Amino acid sequence: MAESTKTGVDLANQDASANGRKPVVVVDDLHVKYRVYAGGKPVKGTGRSLLKRSGGGIREVHALKGVSFTAYENESIGVIGSNGSGKSTLMRTLVGLTPPSDGAVYASSRPNLLGVGAALIPDLSGEKNIQLGGLALGFSKQEINGLRDNIVQFAELEEFIDLPMRTYSSGMQARLKFAIAASKQHEILIVDEALAVGDQRFRKRSEARIREIRENAGTVFLVSHSMKSILDTCSRVIWINKGVLQMDGDPKEVVDAYQETKK
Ligand SMILES: Nc1ncnc2c1ncn2[C@@H]1O[C@H](COP(=O)(O)OP(=O)(O)OP(=O)(O)O)[C@@H](O)[C@H]1O
Ligand SMILES: [Mg+2]
Repeated sequence: MAESTKTGVDLANQDASANGRKPVVVVDDLHVKYRVYAGGKPVKGTGRSLLKRSGGGIREVHALKGVSFTAYENESIGVIGSNGSGKSTLMRTLVGLTPPSDGAVYASSRPNLLGVGAALIPDLSGEKNIQLGGLALGFSKQEINGLRDNIVQFAELEEFIDLPMRTYSSGMQARLKFAIAASKQHEILIVDEALAVGDQRFRKRSEARIREIRENAGTVFLVSHSMKSILDTCSRVIWINKGVLQMDGDPKEVVDAYQETKK
């Protein structure tokens, strides 16, 4: 198995077409295969081994089939495609959560997946989760205390911040997660469908924040099924279709071509 994301790489010489722009992520002939155990009954008496099953067998899902592109500083790249086309797989590979089966990902710094979600605990209050999420992002306790009011304000959760997070609606949870993650100026930020559950006003503010991160020399990947969000936010769009990079370029052109296939 190939190594996962190689970070801290000097990418300046990796791409001749850079035109002086600074490449921050290079994806080179990336393949990802999942091995899934399909059907079959567990064999009795094998105890904890899930691998031994009668019938069924191992199925391989080839989720990404040779994807290559280079992302540059200051770009916000929309990632579109039908359900199951491989968008989330690509994003998880960029942050090193899913290893490539073949090919490689090089990054100038470790990309952050907007998913402080993993670090948060539903039974704890919003307040405590801000601390946890902040620590997960690498902030010190003092830094978190300094950011706390902004996070609560951005999420508009003033009245609810002392309640357990499990009592929040899905939109409120998404706000809190976004507000925590976006409190940091990321070099490479990945947002996978996080905006989908927010209401329109929150979506607008989130999109504005994404643009701000990008303007401050960050690179943002935004995975979304909302073509409006993509067109409002992105400077470039990548269309993944059945694990293959179908198109990469101007947002309007790529979105139009994608929507044409949906008719
Ligand atoms: N953990 C996993 N184990 C096995 N197969 C997986 C796993 N994650 C994804 N897949 C498979 O990989 C393919 C790509 O899935 P992925 O989640 O990347 O799609 P997606 O483009 O993000 O879809 P959506 O728009 O629904 O979010 C699908 O066929 C899916 O079934
Ligand atoms: Mg997905």
